Amino acid sequence: MAQLQWKEEFSVGDAVFDADHQNLISLINRLSDANSSEDDIQWVLQQLEIYVQVHFSREEMAMKEADYPSLGEHKLEHDNFTTWLGNLKSTFGSEPDSAFHLTETIAEFLNEWLTKHILHTDMQYKNKI
Ligand SMILES: [Fe+2]
Repeated sequence: MAQLQWKEEFSVGDAVFDADHQNLISLINRLSDANSSEDDIQWVLQQLEIYVQVHFSREEMAMKEADYPSLGEHKLEHDNFTTWLGNLKSTFGSEPDSAFHLTETIAEFLNEWLTKHILHTDMQYKNKI
């Protein structure tokens, strides 16, 4: 998969959220790297765990403080991501070798998340929170 590059049009108008999203892009790139090892994949999964805890709560907190009307729908998408990650982790827990075979699937999911969530759902809060 081709390496992704951050562009100005990806900006949601907040330096901290943009930095979080750039971090996610670098995780996708790490997975898409043809030379990524099983250790890389495990590392990416750990980073995603942190991403879910830190970034999602950061966004949700800001939406709450701003009385953002679509917080409920937005949180649902975050929760779906968290569930996806939880399932992935339990798969790896029982079949550690599966990490390597699923690399492309994970990268595809994250790519889709970038398009559908970050560039669509997140973009809707631009200048509103
Ligand atoms: Fe979000």
